[in-house]
Amino acid sequence: MSGTMLLTGGCGFIGSNFVRFVLANRPGWSIINLDSLSYSGNLENLTDIEGHPRYRFVKGDICDADTVAPLMEEADAVVHMAAESHVDRSILDSRPFIVSNVLGTQTLLDAARRAKGGAGVGRFLLVSTDEVYGSLPLERPDLRFTEESPLRPNSPYAASKTSADLLARAYHHTFSMDIVVTRCSNNFGPYQFPEKVIPLFVTNLMDGAQVPLYGDGKNVRDWVHVDDHCEAVLTVLEKGRAGEVYNIGGNNERSNLELTRTILEIMGKGPEMIRPVADRLGHDRRYAIDGGKIERELGWRPTRSRWPGALAATVDWYVTNRSWWERVRSGAYREYYARQYGALS
Ligand code: TYD
Repeated sequence: MSGTMLLTGGCGFIGSNFVRFVLANRPGWSIINLDSLSYSGNLENLTDIEGHPRYRFVKGDICDADTVAPLMEEADAVVHMAAESHVDRSILDSRPFIVSNVLGTQTLLDAARRAKGGAGVGRFLLVSTDEVYGSLPLERPDLRFTEESPLRPNSPYAASKTSADLLARAYHHTFSMDIVVTRCSNNFGPYQFPEKVIPLFVTNLMDGAQVPLYGDGKNVRDWVHVDDHCEAVLTVLEKGRAGEVYNIGGNNERSNLELTRTILEIMGKGPEMIRPVADRLGHDRRYAIDGGKIERELGWRPTRSRWPGALAATVDWYVTNRSWWERVRSGAYREYYARQYGALS
């Protein structure tokens, strides 16, 4: 499979890494990157790609049918990853999550269906999340999310993504559209907006500030390197079966306390830099992915997420690219951070 790919959210963390990954590894694909450049989308994430012959940027909103329709006419496939993605923001105000994640997905699905005189785009891939499954108990380390696990989203963010995920399922069923869905665990790597735990903690420590660890720090996440995620998404796009869901994980479960201690160690800081803070409302205890299906069916498994080397390389990227995150952090993020934790020093 090759041709023109309409990518949504290509200026975000996963999106910008995906653009780079596709252009470097798949000479058959061209990319149209549709991104609204909201607070977390940053054109600076892709300065090295500007002018690439197989890349074009379009500033626009996925909720705007008039923007989306002509782009669909050019597309052989859609990779939809534009989303509001930060759980804490969804707790403060869920409306933008419903607008972008639900209405945005519906707008894209309808446009994909109507494109080319009703023939539709070739394939539509929705980047969903493991958060659709809700939370696993710490007391049952034997349990993992499979694609058959019940959908029990717990945060407004997760509920909005589950809605999008189910819309994709319904459009496949009702309109026989060629749709595939990926559900990935927590990503790490370069260009992640410093509201998410890894870049937040690393950049705080670089500024001599403490790191706010929620609750008892025992919550577990399965960390996958963003390049592993990008490769898996491409694999599903090119080889996945229509109508199917594929989990993507890193085989790399860590408690937040373990993650924090490893970051402190890598950066040569002591445990006094941990500041325990009130827990997140409704904080999911554990996410754990069973990645058996994508490995069995498509032969993919993670190779770049190994701890602590992959984490150390990511920490090093933020250390080396201070100017990137300083510019990012000085914008809307500063105001958001102030509301949560007080003004940044
Ligand atoms: P986050 O990066 O927001 O991803 P998600 O909520 O999608 O898993 O958070 C990862 C984990 O880190 C989560 O259990 C919450 C925790 N966390 C903190 O302890 N402190 C923080 O300041 C943040 C942002 C997250």
